[in-house]
This record gives sequence, structure tokens and C-alpha cells, in this order.
Amino acid sequence: MSGKFKRILYGGDYNPNQWGKEVWKEDMQIFRDARINSATINVFSWAKLQPSEDEYYFDELDEVVEMLSNENYDIVLATSTAALPAWMFKKYPEVARTDYQGRRHKFGQRHNACPNSVVYQKYASALVEKLAQRYAKNPHVTCWHINNEYGGECYCENCEKAFRVWLKKKYGTIEALNKAGNLEFWGHTVYEWDEIVLPNALGDGMEDGVNTAFAGLSVDYRRFNSDGLLTNFKMERDVIRRYNPDAVITTNLMGTYKGLDYFKWAKEMDIVSWDNYPSFDTPWSYIAMCHDLMRGLKGESFMLMEQTPSQQNWQAYNSLKRPGQMRAQSYQTIAHGADTIQFFQLRRSVGGCEKFHGAVIAHAGTENTRVFREVKQLGEELERLGTSTLGFVNESEVGVIFDWENYWALEYTSGPTVDLTYVDQIHRYYKYFYEKNIAVDMIPFDADFSRYKVIVAPVLYMVKEGMQEALEAFVKKGGVLITTYMSGIVGESDNVYLGGYPGPLRDMAGIWAEEIDALAPEQSNEVVFADGSRSRCRMVCDLMHLEQAEEIASYGTDFYAGTPAVTRNRYGSGTTYYIGTCMEEDGIAHVLDLAVADAGVTPVIADDIGLEVTCRKTEDSSYYFLMNFRDQAQEVPAELAGHTDMLTGETVKAGEQMAKFDVKIVKVNA
Ligand code: GLA
Ligand code: ZN
Repeated sequence: MSGKFKRILYGGDYNPNQWGKEVWKEDMQIFRDARINSATINVFSWAKLQPSEDEYYFDELDEVVEMLSNENYDIVLATSTAALPAWMFKKYPEVARTDYQGRRHKFGQRHNACPNSVVYQKYASALVEKLAQRYAKNPHVTCWHINNEYGGECYCENCEKAFRVWLKKKYGTIEALNKAGNLEFWGHTVYEWDEIVLPNALGDGMEDGVNTAFAGLSVDYRRFNSDGLLTNFKMERDVIRRYNPDAVITTNLMGTYKGLDYFKWAKEMDIVSWDNYPSFDTPWSYIAMCHDLMRGLKGESFMLMEQTPSQQNWQAYNSLKRPGQMRAQSYQTIAHGADTIQFFQLRRSVGGCEKFHGAVIAHAGTENTRVFREVKQLGEELERLGTSTLGFVNESEVGVIFDWENYWALEYTSGPTVDLTYVDQIHRYYKYFYEKNIAVDMIPFDADFSRYKVIVAPVLYMVKEGMQEALEAFVKKGGVLITTYMSGIVGESDNVYLGGYPGPLRDMAGIWAEEIDALAPEQSNEVVFADGSRSRCRMVCDLMHLEQAEEIASYGTDFYAGTPAVTRNRYGSGTTYYIGTCMEEDGIAHVLDLAVADAGVTPVIADDIGLEVTCRKTEDSSYYFLMNFRDQAQEVPAELAGHTDMLTGETVKAGEQMAKFDVKIVKVNA
């Protein structure tokens, strides 16, 4: 066993302060029945813990901690700093955020503190200090949950001042800033630091908040804001560390959330945790990608901090999870590297905007519900699974680059099309591997590429320092690189690499993209492969010249019909594939089939089957997770017949069928 915990944490957000104490007892008994062994508490309790500036109150929290300790829970203790008490807004209005439109907010909502308010920082760290003094040594507090879902922005005067300081530190001189931002354009040259304003709707940001007049400066604002919130996280973390240097400290992330550079954040966290809230039509491949991204942040197993046992409240249509769906979703989470399954929440709220949010115990207040029975079944199964997979992760031969600065820059940029969104683009390529059960690591731009046979870098719009060299070295040594349209365009300040696209990738790709056509949603072109097969393509079309590369496919129509659309370049001992247009799935599969064959990548399971299959390898065994997310029954892979399904203890039989949402965890000894 390895990892951060001694067992799979099974439980979730628990807010007993909303009910009378007679209910607490009942809760404990019901949770015991479901094999719940963990609770996340104190997430939004600042108002109770500190009713006024110089008054603290911990009696109730003490009682909750004591009750859970008596039940031998693993307590995930939150710090309550994600929603400010009313007195703070009244006395210190500067703690409130100012939004993109420039409006200073009043008391309300949550996630509402200005990250650069020293008043907020002072009171937050004082509160955490009190909590740490009290609970950091409690052996039942196995994890600290700082704040909650960090995110959002603030455009107040404090943040503006802090941004100037941040820029000054980065650029040193005003001339360097003007140059990096290309501020000559539209005569935006600044002469003094105090002329810099935040890029919101009152400044360089466009009304819609999507585009901006100076993408470089707006990307800097995002870097600054991500760093600023991270400073708050570190501040709280360091207070807890002073009271317990071994504390396991996390904060709950949100998958592909745009606002924060999670690779940077993960370096400061002891374990990554995240909240998984797919909607009824989110593809399973997308959820799998998010899990792989969360695992990739540290390259370690992670926590699922939140998921709903049934429905949500905040989506437009909060459909129920179908029978078996929550269980299958939970196993998919473990299959991709999770060591915990936690729900939001354990008992359904009586009021407030989350009263329709699903919970382990519904408003009916009994165990006699479908949802409870499913939670209980899962709890019993997880107990049986025990510690076998804890801390072990999946192994992959394919790395897909995910980079927040690229995410920001690509989406800020004005032209060539508004339809190109970063996560969707990454997912298109990820999905190919998912369908084939080829394991993928989601990796940062500065990962150790040598660990992989294939690196996929879709829309690598911003090529940062060191990347060209690292990617060239990877390919030269025999690696296979796949990159696409809208790659190699700009450097770190969003200024274009002159001399022809794809700039620093041009040599290894062996092509020159002279122009980029943008296609409206009602327009499309075609990609024609050498074997005569065709695939629709949309959004963008690079008009390319072959330099050293060979053509894999050409365009079917328009004035550039017959010119290259997809190319391959042998470079050193490796190969670069350049995909010049946004193809549909069949086209992507055509090219990636070639690349995978080139690289000799093997799927987790040899059989071509309709199940999702992953593998977590421990020192002495391989645990194969088989999951059916399709409507039709699917057959188990022949090569796993004869091995044991950990969930039932039974031997897997050849030809066995798995119905929709069925799961097996098959153990194969090394
Ligand atoms: C987020 C929050 C929780 C809760 C859930 C509801 O993930 O962290 O406090 O509001 O959403 O889905
Ligand atoms: Zn602010």
C-alpha cells in the first residue's frame, strides 16, 4: 500500500449544523450502514466560527469533530475561508470583489473575497491559526481542505495596484513591458506604471469578457490572478504546517476550469482533489480526460472530493443519475487514479439554493431510497476492494499536453475563428485514445517527454521557452509528435513568431503554413487520404507548403483543393504529424492510427472492445477496470477470462456479457 491514506475515503460534505442534534445521531447510524468512513466538514462556517471581529466560537465544531472521531472517521477539515462573514463586509468593504464590469460587490454569494485584500488575508490566516491550534494534531483529521473551489477574478483598485507590482517584477522596466505587450499598437504605450489598468470591460477587455485588445497583457492578468489566489492557498497551508508539518493539505479543484494554472497549483498541494459534476450529456471520454488531467497534475493518485450521488441543482436540467450510473462513475474515477470517493453531500439541505442538490440522505430522511441503496452497495464493495490500489497509478505511453497559458491565449486571441475552444480541441484528440483503450497521461508543457512514445500537442498556439528544443529532442530520439493547426504561432507574450507558421515547430513539422482559412459553422471542406477515404473538416484550414514533409491527405474542395491538409515528417529517428484542419472523428482516427502504429503504442487490452478499460498496476498485480458506458451489452475481453473479479470474488468467464453500467475489477497477478 502507498498513497496518502490508509483506506479508501468514502463519504463527503457534511453540514450537520443545519439540523438539530437528534438528527446527528441518526446520521451516524445511517452512514455506518452505508460504510461511510469520512466526512468533509466546516466548509462554509466562518460566520459561526467568528461571529464578530474579536469573538471565536468552536463548541459546535468541537462536538462534530468529537462525534466523527468516536466513529473513527477520516475527517477532511475545511478552513471555511471561502465565504466571508457579514460583519467583515460591513466594516471593511474592501474585502469584497469588483467584477469584470467594474462593480464593487456587496455582501452575498460565496467565493467572494478579493485575493489581494490584506484585511481578508489577515482574518483568514487568523481563523486558520485557531483551527490549526485546535485540530492539527487530532489523528482523525487526515486531510485539510483549504478554502473551496478557488476561482473567479477581482478588478478592484487593490488588485490593480498589485498587478502593477507583479508586472514590474516580471518586466523590470516600462520599456520592456511596452515591448512585451506590443503596446505601440493603437498607441497604448504607457509611460508610468500607474497608467496600467486591469483588462476588464472598463479597460482593454471586450464587453463579452472573452476577447481583449491586448491578449498578452490579459494573459499576464490571468497569470497574476492565478498566482494571487495561490498565494492565499499557501498562506493558509503554511499556518497549518506550523502546527503539523505532516498534515495532508489540499483544496478542491475543478477539472478543466479555466481560471487557474493547476499545474502550478499542484506543486504546492500535498494531494490533488477535485469535484466532478458532469451533466447528463457530458461524454464519458471527457470525464476520463478530466480524471487523467487531475492525476497528471502531480503524476500521483488523487482524491475525488465531490460528486453528487444523484442530481445537481445548478445545471439547467438536473437529471437523475440512472440506476447503476453513480456506481459506474465512481469506479471510472478510481480506474483513472482516485483514492477517495466523496459526495456532495451527505444530507440534503433544507433551504438555500442547494436544497434540490442530491445527497446520500434525501429529504425523506430515511435509508429507504434508491440513492441510499446504491451508496450503500458501493460502500460495501469499496470495503471489499480495500487498500489494494491505493497510491498506485496508471502507466501510459502517450502524453497529451495540456497548458493553461495556451488555453488563455488561444481563447483571448481575436481571429481567425471564435469557434476554436481549447478544451474541446484537446478532447477531440484525447477521445481517439479513449475509444481504443490506450492509456493517456495529461502532461504539462515541461514534462519529461522521454517517458512517452507519443506526444500529442493539439493547438499548441503558444510555444514557450525551451519547448522547441524539448520537442525536437523528443522527435529526434525516435518519438512521434502530433501537432495541429493554430500551433507555433506566438511566444509567451502573445507576439507572433515571424518568418512563417508554425514558427518554432516548422523545422520538425517540415511544412510552412502560409495562410489560415476560417470556416463558418455552415461551411466545411473535405480531407482526402491516399486510400481515397474522405473526412469532413471545419473551423480552420491551414494552407500549407511541404518543405521536408510528405503529404498524408489533401483538401477536397475550394481554391486550395489538392494542397496538403495533413503531413508527416521523418525527423531524426522520429516523426512529426501535422494536422492542418479540424477533422471529424474518422479523419482524426485515420491519422492517429498511423501515428500509433509508427510509435508501437499498445492499448491496455489487446481486444478491440466496447468497454472502457484501464489498469492500475501495483507491485505484484495489475487491476483491470472494465466499465460499460454503452447502451448495448459488451463482452469481457478474452484475455481476462479465468481471472478474479474483485467486486464479486468470481472468476471471469470467456464470452461473459456486461450490461450498461456494469463494472468489473479484474486482478491479474504479475
Ligand atoms: C461545488 C461546491 C460545493 C457545492 C457543490 C454543488 O462543487 O464546492 O460546495 O456547492 O458545488 O454541486
Ligand atoms: Zn481585488
